[in-house]
Amino acid sequence: MIFCFSGTGNSRYAARIIAQYTEDEIVDLNELIRSDIERNDGGIHGFASAKPYVLVCPTYCWNIPLAVEEFLRRCDLAGSDKFYFCLTCGSDTGAAAKGAEKLCKDKKMRFMGLGAARMPENYIAMFDSPSYDDAKGIISCARPALESIGRKIAQGQPLVELDIPGSPAKSKLKPFFYKHSVKDKKFETTGACTMCGLCEKVCPMANIVLGDKGPEWQGRCTHCMACISRCPANAIEYGKISLGKRRYFLNDNGEQRR
Ligand SMILES: Cc1cc2nc3c(=O)[nH]c(=O)nc-3n(C[C@H](O)[C@H](O)[C@H](O)COP(=O)(O)O)c2cc1C
Ligand code: SF4
Ligand code: SF4
Repeated sequence: MIFCFSGTGNSRYAARIIAQYTEDEIVDLNELIRSDIERNDGGIHGFASAKPYVLVCPTYCWNIPLAVEEFLRRCDLAGSDKFYFCLTCGSDTGAAAKGAEKLCKDKKMRFMGLGAARMPENYIAMFDSPSYDDAKGIISCARPALESIGRKIAQGQPLVELDIPGSPAKSKLKPFFYKHSVKDKKFETTGACTMCGLCEKVCPMANIVLGDKGPEWQGRCTHCMACISRCPANAIEYGKISLGKRRYFLNDNGEQRR
C-alpha cells in the first residue's frame, strides 16, 4: 500500500512511478487528512496490506511533513510489517531517515530504508521555484532514481538514502520551523481572484473557506503550497515574498504548469 501526500504534484508523480513497479494501490493522504479535519473525530484509521507499506511525500524542514507523521501515528497498519519511505526534496532530505526510523520503531514496523529523489523546489514562501526548462531537467534526472526505488521495493530490498545522511542538527529545527515559520497570515489574494474555489478544494488541511470576498485562511496551514501554486488566476500571494515568482505544479500526466 502506497501512502501519498503531495502539495504540488512531485510526490504524486513519484508515487505513480513506484506503483508501476510494485503494482500496488496509491492511498491519497491529502484526501484522508482533509476529511479527518472536516469530521473532527480524531481520525483513527485501520489499513491492511499484504504488500509492504510505502510512504511517498515531500521533505518539509528536512523531515517527513508533520501532518503526515501525525496521520500515520494514528493509523493501525495490519498485514505486512515492512515500511519503505520515498521522499521528494528540493535539495536534501536531512534528518528524514532518522525520523522515519523512529516512526517505524514506535509503530513496531520494520524500517526498510528511505530513498530520496531531488525534484523541483516548490517552497515559494521561502525560495524560488526553477524555470520550466530547469524543472524539466530536474524531473528527467529524478526518474531513474524513482525507478530504482520502485524496483528495489518490488524486490523486497532495503533502500539507502541517495544523498546527505541523517543530521541530528537538522532534526532539532523541526519544532522551531512549525512554531515560527508555518503560518498562513501572509496569504492574501489580489484583485485577480475569479472566485473559482480551486484553492478551497485542493487544500489538504481544509484550511481555506471561500467567503464573499475570496478565500479566507483558517490558521491550520501546513505550507504545502497547493493553493498558491495551483490558483489558475495567479491571484494568491504570500506577502511580498512570492511576488513575481513562478508557480510550479506537476499534474498527473507529468506535465508542468506553464
Ligand atoms: C514547507 C516546505 C518545506 C520544505 N523543506 C524542504 C527541505 O527541508 N529540504 C528540501 O530539500 N526541500 C524542501 N522543500 C521542497 C519540497 O520538499 C520539494 O519541492 C518536494 O518535491 C515537493 O513535493 P510535492 O510537489 O509533492 O509537494 C520544502 C517544501 C515545502 C513546501
Ligand atoms: S484558486 Fe485563485 S481564483 Fe480561484 S478562488 Fe482561489 S484565489 Fe480565487
Ligand atoms: S492553505 Fe494553502 S499552503 Fe496551507 S495547507 Fe492549505 S493549500 Fe497548503
